[in-house]
Amino acid sequence: MSEKQKFTSHDAIAMEEKYGAQNYHPLPVVLTRGEGVYVWDVEGKKYYDFLSAYSAVNQGHCHPKIIAALKDQAERLTLTSRAFYNEMLGQYEKYLSEFFGFDKVLPMNTGAEAVETAIKLARKWGYEKKGIHANQAKVIVCQNNFHGRTITIISASNDPIATENFGPFTPGIHSIRYNDLYALREALEDDNVAAFLVEPIQGEAGVYVPDDDYLREAYLMCKERNVLFISDEVQTGIARTGRLLASCGNCSCADKLCSGEPEVKPDILILGKALSGGAFPVSAVLANKEIMDVIRPGNHGSTFGGNPLACAVAMAALEVVREENLAERADFLGNIFRKEMNKLIQKSQWVKLVRGKGLLNAIVINDTEDSSTAWEICMALKENGLLAKPTHGNIIRFAPPLVMTEEQLYECIGIINKTIMEFEAQYAEEH
Ligand SMILES: Cc1ncc(COP(=O)(O)O)c(C=O)c1O
Repeated sequence: MSEKQKFTSHDAIAMEEKYGAQNYHPLPVVLTRGEGVYVWDVEGKKYYDFLSAYSAVNQGHCHPKIIAALKDQAERLTLTSRAFYNEMLGQYEKYLSEFFGFDKVLPMNTGAEAVETAIKLARKWGYEKKGIHANQAKVIVCQNNFHGRTITIISASNDPIATENFGPFTPGIHSIRYNDLYALREALEDDNVAAFLVEPIQGEAGVYVPDDDYLREAYLMCKERNVLFISDEVQTGIARTGRLLASCGNCSCADKLCSGEPEVKPDILILGKALSGGAFPVSAVLANKEIMDVIRPGNHGSTFGGNPLACAVAMAALEVVREENLAERADFLGNIFRKEMNKLIQKSQWVKLVRGKGLLNAIVINDTEDSSTAWEICMALKENGLLAKPTHGNIIRFAPPLVMTEEQLYECIGIINKTIMEFEAQYAEEH
């Protein structure tokens, strides 16, 4: 395409609409480049990224260390399949196991695949170790969860948009209210329960943070009933919530799972997204030997899972998290963010609540669930140079890369303040 015929945002959107399945409803901005906390559209406008590809880009866009590892490995060996060994996988599995304090890793690619893997692992453990009768195993999940898009995973969903006309669904899933220990206790009375699958914070649902004691108590109840506690940290993990894992709860250690007494040490941990810093799809399931060893050759796998490129990228991505103290940074910046949003709430007619942990936060707009106010605010934020997206209902999630500086965060808070106050003034004028 010549200089004269520049490819515009309009062209890119039209092309996607014509040739792509319409399974998303993106904000109308077409990005071409990213660096750290910034992204640029094809017309050259610069934005703060306040979504981080749904928390996959915790380390910032195109982090030089991660990209160097990607390039270096890509020039040597990218894929062997698991038909043969590759020199990177064992090193990566050791690194990841030690990093998170588990015996073993099962490598996959996407978050949904890792959730499926965890469910398979839990069912097999249920039959072979717990003694559940054939085909009777149950997994408890929480209402309003988001664990991905496969048939089994949507079988656990109560979101009509995700489920309508996709049945029949996978049996053996029992859904209870999130943050409800009574409901969990009751569900655990069933001896056929193999596992409880939970997000430590419900991200997609609108950043719902459970009560302080919820995860710890739920974990202890599962222990008592010989039920596996599966923590889906695809979105909350890898420093996003101010801890290496959100399962660490209120533990004062901001660096990693404490070797002492973590609040919750999941039996099965699911990671994805920021495990690669957004450079490549990498996910993983971690567990100790007694659980992981129920999986034998041929039981499960993936052509790309554990490929050398993913291994190199993931190790670099985790090194960045540790070297740049991203958990501490998320904790520190998150406190500033919520404090400043609470000041905004005092002045604003529209923003009624801010909630979150670390740099996974959301504001709730004081309007009916099905109105377009949150979307319109996101459009106005875009005009002012900040990209964010509504989650369910009138909730806007704010999740910038964790490499943000304090100064940049204050600039973003300024943009959010200005946009919302202007939005309100304009609304008042028009009504
Ligand atoms: C908690 C959680 N689990 C699983 C997934 C699915 O991950 P993926 O989109 O990589 O399949 C997501 C994605 O947003 C998620 O937030």
